[in-house]
Amino acid sequence: MTAARPPMGWNSWNTFGEKIDEELILQIADRMVDEGYREAGYQYLIIDDCWALKERDEHGLLVPDPKKFPHGMKAVADYVHGKGLKFGMYSCAGVMTCAGYPSSYDHEFSDAAQFAEWGVDYLKYDFCHFPENADCQNRYHRMSMALKATGRDILFAACNWGKEESWTWMRSIGAHTYRSTGDIFDNFRSFMGIFTSQLEHLCQSGPYCFNDMDMLTVGMYNRGNVAIGKTCTDGEYRIQFSLWCLSGTPLIIGADIREMKPEMKELLLNTDLIRINQDEECRPPCLLGKRSVAVPETDRENAVEPIRMVKDKLYTLLKHLSHQEFVIAFYNLFEEEQEMNCIFADAGLPYESGYGFHMRDIFTGEDLGVKRDYFLARVPGHDCKLYFCRLEKC
Ligand code: GAL
Repeated sequence: MTAARPPMGWNSWNTFGEKIDEELILQIADRMVDEGYREAGYQYLIIDDCWALKERDEHGLLVPDPKKFPHGMKAVADYVHGKGLKFGMYSCAGVMTCAGYPSSYDHEFSDAAQFAEWGVDYLKYDFCHFPENADCQNRYHRMSMALKATGRDILFAACNWGKEESWTWMRSIGAHTYRSTGDIFDNFRSFMGIFTSQLEHLCQSGPYCFNDMDMLTVGMYNRGNVAIGKTCTDGEYRIQFSLWCLSGTPLIIGADIREMKPEMKELLLNTDLIRINQDEECRPPCLLGKRSVAVPETDRENAVEPIRMVKDKLYTLLKHLSHQEFVIAFYNLFEEEQEMNCIFADAGLPYESGYGFHMRDIFTGEDLGVKRDYFLARVPGHDCKLYFCRLEKC
């Protein structure tokens, strides 16, 4: 069934924006298979905005730009399906897409039929140029119905950037995923802002309708379409990917997988982290502790919004997995290494219970044995540490 787990795949927007064509999509399809991404679970290959001609045809249908897609979309879909992948496309609930291409307002049912005919398995549905007096919830409901009316199993990836508190109604109108924030940018401040804004909403995310914190920028290193601010370090990308995994949000790669740094490929294909994202119980992490510090007004590095005087710098999270397993995760947002402490009583496991956690480091694989009462981790600056934990009598 569609979206029983967070969907995984690749999307053209973050790196390529308007510069997309058939050759690129076919090459990405090949790489998704040859480099092991499909095998790891990344199954959707999604073409974002800018694939169409600026005008509909005489029958009111969307037309793939023949310069970019000379063999049409069905041919692309067939190739993608032939690789054992699923095919995703993009439209918008407004009167134009964000980049100024025709979109599906008042064309919902005919466009959905067209997508189904091409063999589309996933539709990202954006929110630009949405008429002021139109009813947002009803329009998303309408496209959801239009997709169902095709009889094809199409994942409905709603993208209204969290407007009208999308986490409170998107499940009810049949969306399988819903974007809950504005666009991600390829910098630390951007993705931490997205995560912290969504942490308290993640309880409303689960099977068949997942909160989508936007596409990954892991491995982009400021190449592409969403480059603003300081280039991320490997540690920062570890933070992003593991937070997306703990949050059970869709894992949609945005970097060019033809030119991926080996360490980042290893991160994106980390089977332990993917297992956490895809865990059958789909529980969000709970916040065990955070430490905040006052920031002097001079700390304006990367400031793209008014300065906040308090910053949250250390996060300790715990996630329940299925089969009596847990993850404890430490996030250090200071520049310098920090010692971080997790008191197990804060996670419902006091000393007097007679139980401790048998811990394994997820990145190094090191077995740490059983810890009782608390655990201290040394976490490098702008980096994270994650541990699988099992209850053990001690
Ligand atoms: C934005 C959307 C992005 C991308 C872009 C295309 O509204 O959030 O993810 O799809 O439009 O123009």
